Amino acid sequence: INTIGVLTSGGDAPGMNAAIRAVVREAIAKGKKVKGIKRGYAGLLQEEIVDMEAKDVSDIIQRGGTILQTARCMEFKTPEGQQRAAEICKKHGIDGIIVIGGDGSFRGAQKLAALGINTIGLPGTIDLDIACTEYTIGFDTAVNTAMEAIDKVRDTSTSHERCSIIEVMGRGAGYIALWCGIANGAEDILLPEKYDYDEQKIVNHIIENRKRGKQHHIIVNAEGIGHSASMAKRIEAATGVETRATILGHMQRGGSPTCKDRVYASTMGALAVDLLCEGKSNRVVGYRHGDFVDDDIDAALAMQKCIPEYQYQISKNLSM
Ligand code: F6P
Repeated sequence: INTIGVLTSGGDAPGMNAAIRAVVREAIAKGKKVKGIKRGYAGLLQEEIVDMEAKDVSDIIQRGGTILQTARCMEFKTPEGQQRAAEICKKHGIDGIIVIGGDGSFRGAQKLAALGINTIGLPGTIDLDIACTEYTIGFDTAVNTAMEAIDKVRDTSTSHERCSIIEVMGRGAGYIALWCGIANGAEDILLPEKYDYDEQKIVNHIIENRKRGKQHHIIVNAEGIGHSASMAKRIEAATGVETRATILGHMQRGGSPTCKDRVYASTMGALAVDLLCEGKSNRVVGYRHGDFVDDDIDAALAMQKCIPEYQYQISKNLSM
């Protein structure tokens, strides 16, 4: 490997900059050249490729977003697009590429690997929905941002003796909702993996809690269930308790990364370079049982992940 390309793809996540910085600096330390590819696979197809030096990544470890910017790209999903992308890599002398993103981005990396470009994936998503890893770049920051926001909603909810439904991101996965639900002591946590759509149970729960003197009722609702505004109207009508919906939205994707996101993203970025230098390809970096690991992308994409049952069960007792 002589020249390593790096791109961020899919939704941005805090800590991506720390990973880019680590890729650039570890590669330079190992005597390799680095090229930054702007706007993910879309930028690769547009040949938006720039040389990167150590100084180009100074003062970014603390910044949210991604300096390389990111995009979702339909053309790259076609065999023609993938072939053209591999040719562009070769034209620019890129013989190894590090892709920071989610499962969809790894499928792209898999295709490039099959076309002769050595690829390593880094898990970058606030959703934590990548099966081969217990940690994804951005989750820790996002979940802390959401937790702080929910604390604030709770203050006003209690003052007004309201019920508050707070919708958090996560696409089809409920990890942000579960973590916030526990961290914020939510009375109900609605996860796409668990919710049985029996709203009457929530209504009964609110009425029981009111009888017991509870002054608020926080419902953390996952984006994968959604419809928080209409749910609030129905719950208010059924319980007589004033109910408001708050959708936290994209604020969860921004902000300065936490210490954990900076350190883990830095470690993963450096490891991705080291794997390429060892001649490895079609691998994805992960974190399991206290260790940074790498798996074959095909195997990683075939793995399954579930909401931790014990934490989900105890969350109900803890919000008594
Ligand atoms: O994957 C990250 C994520 O923020 C999801 O939680 C959410 O469903 C999605 O991206 C939103 O995507 P967009 O920014 O394209 O609206």
